[in-house]
Amino acid sequence: QPVYLSDYQPPAYRVTHTELTFDLDPANTLVTARLHIERRATADADTPLILDGEQLTLRSLSIDGTPLAENVYQVGDEGLRIERVPACFVLDSEVVLAPEDNTALEGLYQSNGMFCTQCEAEGFRRITFYPDRPDVMSTFTVTVIGDRRREPILLANGNPVEQGERPDGRHYAIWEDPHPKPCYLFALVAGDLHKVEDHFTTQSGRDVTLQLWVEEENLQKTDHAMGSLKRAMAWDEQVYGREYDLDLFMIVAVNDFNMGAMENKGLNIFNSAAVLAHPDTATDAAFQTVEGIVAHEYFHNWSGNRVTCRDWFQLSLKEGFTVFRDQCFSAETNSAPVKRIQDVSFFRTAQFAEDAGPTAHPVRPDHYIEITNFYTLTIYEKGAEIVRMLRNLVGWDAFRQGADRYFERFDGQAVTIEDFVDCMAEASGLDLSQFMRWYDQAGTPEIDAHGEYDYAHGEYHLTLRQRTPATPGQVDKQPLHIPVAMGLVGTKSGQDLRLTLDGEKLGKDAVIHLREDEQTFVFTDVAEAPVPSLLRHFSAPVKLHFPYSREDLAFLLTQDSDGFNRWDAGQGLAMLALDDLIAAHRNGVEKVMDGRVVDAFRALLASEPADKAVLAEMLTLPSEAYIAEQQPIVDVDAIHAAREFVRQSLAMALRDEFMATFEANRSSEPYAPTPEQIAQRSLKNVALSYLMSIEDEQGVALCEGQFAANHNMTDVRHALTLLVHSDRDDLATPALKTFGEKWAHDPLVMDQWFTIQVSRPQADVLERVKYLMAHPAFSLKNPNRVRALIGAFAQNRVNFHRLDGEGYALLADVVIELNRLNPEIAARLITPLTRWQRFDETRQDLMRSQLERIQREPLSSNVYEVVEKALA
Ligand code: ARG
Ligand code: ZN
Repeated sequence: QPVYLSDYQPPAYRVTHTELTFDLDPANTLVTARLHIERRATADADTPLILDGEQLTLRSLSIDGTPLAENVYQVGDEGLRIERVPACFVLDSEVVLAPEDNTALEGLYQSNGMFCTQCEAEGFRRITFYPDRPDVMSTFTVTVIGDRRREPILLANGNPVEQGERPDGRHYAIWEDPHPKPCYLFALVAGDLHKVEDHFTTQSGRDVTLQLWVEEENLQKTDHAMGSLKRAMAWDEQVYGREYDLDLFMIVAVNDFNMGAMENKGLNIFNSAAVLAHPDTATDAAFQTVEGIVAHEYFHNWSGNRVTCRDWFQLSLKEGFTVFRDQCFSAETNSAPVKRIQDVSFFRTAQFAEDAGPTAHPVRPDHYIEITNFYTLTIYEKGAEIVRMLRNLVGWDAFRQGADRYFERFDGQAVTIEDFVDCMAEASGLDLSQFMRWYDQAGTPEIDAHGEYDYAHGEYHLTLRQRTPATPGQVDKQPLHIPVAMGLVGTKSGQDLRLTLDGEKLGKDAVIHLREDEQTFVFTDVAEAPVPSLLRHFSAPVKLHFPYSREDLAFLLTQDSDGFNRWDAGQGLAMLALDDLIAAHRNGVEKVMDGRVVDAFRALLASEPADKAVLAEMLTLPSEAYIAEQQPIVDVDAIHAAREFVRQSLAMALRDEFMATFEANRSSEPYAPTPEQIAQRSLKNVALSYLMSIEDEQGVALCEGQFAANHNMTDVRHALTLLVHSDRDDLATPALKTFGEKWAHDPLVMDQWFTIQVSRPQADVLERVKYLMAHPAFSLKNPNRVRALIGAFAQNRVNFHRLDGEGYALLADVVIELNRLNPEIAARLITPLTRWQRFDETRQDLMRSQLERIQREPLSSNVYEVVEKALA
């Protein structure tokens, strides 16, 4: 059942042109396909034609106008096979689909009455019989026929070429996409949509029409996405020299969507949560997410569409590169250090966990059962970290030259990760063969580091030893090429020292290259004892262990010239304190707060911050999920108790400072999602969190006031969360009621209302989840609702991991039901259960027995693959 990378064969038949006609109907859509097919010169004349096709009802089939007799072809569950075909021919087929019954949201489906599609990776085979693989690229002409009242708007990829009335009273539109593309980039949308329109003039002076299509009530929520799109278009021209290549670019917002968005050529389709934003309904974080995703999908036009993937094992070729591109874009439009801090903390929490669990896989996997299970943090974010390392290794200029080479050489082709790395090697002259191991080796490399200062010779000896733990199916690991950005910070001067390594002067901020299992780097002319600052800006996706003392970390927290490492030192200092408190909690010993953390926070609060958003991050403790990642066995209650203790101790010791910070950062300016305002709000809200953690009257009053003032969703949501997560149910209950009634009509706000309630630490959460599943605003068929309620509950560490196992049972119930409705979402939802090995034995047994219960069901390939791995 698995597919293997090593089995790759180029396609025997190409499709040079594709003509599709959709006669839309919720229960009976007729899809007529005319495929212009050619056998490749290298293929034998007797090679059968095999087309993918699933859940299609075939009505007719003919070659060059002659209907095929039933004995010359076979139709099975997975497709169609025609034994003998000419070298060059036209294949006509007619199939019937029922979009209204499509709850998997793959292929052609209906969302709120609107027709839409999702084809990546293998959804096109649910639309018509076709070679559904990315290395078959074709031009497309698409005719969409619909009901004028129900579907006044008919969209597909490319340029509109014709529209009109039909004798039967229906209307139609014809679209032509001149750029050859794989069928996973096909899209169609039809429904009662409204647009906002804008224009962008490209570098070379072409006018591009930009359209954002939404349901009427969402017209007020489009400004931010449109602005983001224009910024992204300008950025890709300035930074990568890449221009848009059609006269029209469309984005459509749909309510039911499995992921964030999809880069279909000229017609991006978005989850409404990833494109709509208004100050009254979306938080600062949501504004930033929208900007990042709009840019991401736009950037795919080159990194993904013009140059695409040969096969799905190469998925990170387009996703890793495009995530790297959107990260750089967002860093430039927001606070760059904060963007890096947020990306890395997420990465170290969630990707490290994936890499350490039973579903660990390389950035380029070598086999899979269900490709939709591989749209993962490893393929996306670790892939982006690898591209970032490449950029840093070869330098920006060579990287840009390599990218130019890649886009030029492979334009209109479907290629591999080697093709990309080769361009970088050629442009830089570097040997990247060892570096390639990053793509094929799963697991997070760990570096054990230690250093020694030799006073007598003025030398600093730094020894780095790397190892990558075994992952499923990969026991032996080779050493990787790991770039370690570093400095030596003099303990007397508090400055970065000049680095001399093997007689070579490296400057104050250098990169050393670890390629062997173990290497010792001897720095000479080191005039004072240093504290090393290692892995600056997270220069490689590894875990680095250095035996820092608390004094070292407190020193780096104030003196390191690298902002990222200053933040990281603060996190490290907090982690040492948290570790002690977790142990104290487990041993039933009285908890004592580490005064050094209090002193460090006091100093931070007294400083005049250059960037308030960075300060807000520095004042934020590691999340429970991150702390859990650092423990050999996760004790959810001890972690929660320890973190709360630190929060409250800091709040009590620094109450006046937090109060002053809160007051100094209030503002009545009209809302704008600018970096300055976002920074100020985040600092103010961090202060409010501390004040609310001790629930003193003044803090509570400020929180209630912020909720009632109703200035913008960022502040309202933050205040509501603090009220609901406090023990003041007398305040939480009415606030939730007010908010829920006010926003009952807005599903994206109701999602926030669900999430806030089921993330609270109090013990009533499981009952709430069950109660809310019956709420009229909830539906298991909508992925956003499922994520907001069930997904958020499974992230609630203390409540999901209840010792009676009821949290696990509830998740398993939902997975079993969703397995029938939407296998992709069902498979994703299981993730927290797959991490059972990280917990105590009682919980391990409880989690495993729920996985076994799921395993006994008749399963989709998606859920089957995840459960098999989890229990292997
Ligand atoms: N290519 C899309 C993106 O990263 C995501 C594809 C979604 N695929 C899926 N099977 N849901 O922007
Ligand atoms: Zn993408």
